Amino acid sequence: MLRCGIVGATGYTGIELIKILGRHTYAQLSALTSRQPKPFPVRQLVPEAPEDPDVVVRPFNFSEVRDAVDAVFLCLPHTEAARTAAKFYRAGKIVIDLSADFRLKSARLYEAWYGVRHAAKNILGRAVYGLPEMNREAIRSADLIANPGCYPTGAVIGLYPLLKRRLIDPDSIVIDAKSGVTGAGKRLSPHTQFCAVDENFYAYKVNRHQHMPEIEQALGKAAGRRIAVTFVPHLLPMKRGIMTALYLKVRKGAGAPQIARAFGECYGEEPFVRFRGEGQFPALADVQGTNFCDVGFSLEKRNGRLIVITAIDNLLKGASGQAVQNMNIRAGFPEHEGLKVW
Ligand SMILES: NC(=O)c1ccc[n+]([C@@H]2O[C@H](COP(=O)([O-])OP(=O)(O)OC[C@H]3O[C@@H](n4cnc5c(N)ncnc54)[C@H](OP(=O)(O)O)[C@@H]3O)[C@@H](O)[C@H]2O)c1
Repeated sequence: MLRCGIVGATGYTGIELIKILGRHTYAQLSALTSRQPKPFPVRQLVPEAPEDPDVVVRPFNFSEVRDAVDAVFLCLPHTEAARTAAKFYRAGKIVIDLSADFRLKSARLYEAWYGVRHAAKNILGRAVYGLPEMNREAIRSADLIANPGCYPTGAVIGLYPLLKRRLIDPDSIVIDAKSGVTGAGKRLSPHTQFCAVDENFYAYKVNRHQHMPEIEQALGKAAGRRIAVTFVPHLLPMKRGIMTALYLKVRKGAGAPQIARAFGECYGEEPFVRFRGEGQFPALADVQGTNFCDVGFSLEKRNGRLIVITAIDNLLKGASGQAVQNMNIRAGFPEHEGLKVW
């Protein structure tokens, strides 16, 4: 059994992790923590959890968690995550960080986009970007896994095969993404409370969203050159899911068969990407509650414009599901363990 800890267990991603790890055959929930001053039963967070006096959420204490776990999931705000990750990493634990703290390879870029000093620069170079579809081999031996952001997951999965196969103009990428409100975490803000969101729909942080450099870094790696995207995030009046529409110019000679082949060959063996083919577009309801990323496309011959649509559940493939997928890869467990819905 792999002994697992969740730091920040009371947030949206922490609660999803409790559910997934609770049904995992080879993982054991050994430490759950939050900033609440007194311990409380996990059932207060996940009512369907079995009654178990040992599964309790406790105030965070580093040495207690260190001694109780082999792997730790950090579900903390950025900066706080980097500080905590450094301690567990130095103690020889497998660290899977759901925050943005280790996703960008450049501390300077991180500081420019997040507006804070990087709290663990000395281990930044050790982090592996945990997108299995791109980095599975590196994840197998990583002790510090930077779990990707939710928007980057939906965007990069839709673009990676096309850039790898040189089928699109890398300077033409427009990412038009819509997220459910859980993407912002449980903390209340004027922009995410019920009256701002219900029966409303709006774009925000256009070309300013902190996930932009992460997307560009991953795409740059696939393309072998620098990429600058246009990114328009929106907030949907619903709880979970991200629908991403990618608007792209195809290169001369690239038609629908080549595009379908690129997706089919890249993702045919992937356990959590379902390529649906040309003219088949996913809906959020298809992926909510699952770790799947569904992908479809349409190529308009008259203007050479390619539209790729992807759909994910931001809390699963966009966060906790992908984190467990990474843990499974790292620990040598079947990749779908804990993540099967059928
Ligand atoms: N939500 C998503 O769709 C999503 C997707 C991908 C990545 N992420 C990232 O994953 C991380 C967790 O996201 P989330 O949505 O679960 O956030 P959340 O709902 O706001 O939960 C954050 C957790 O961290 C604890 N916490 C907050 N401030 C803290 C501090 N200063 N020190 C220690 N603990 C603190 C909170 O617990 P208490 O208040 O009980 O202590 C809570 O358990 C974030 O970095 C986020 O950017 C989120």
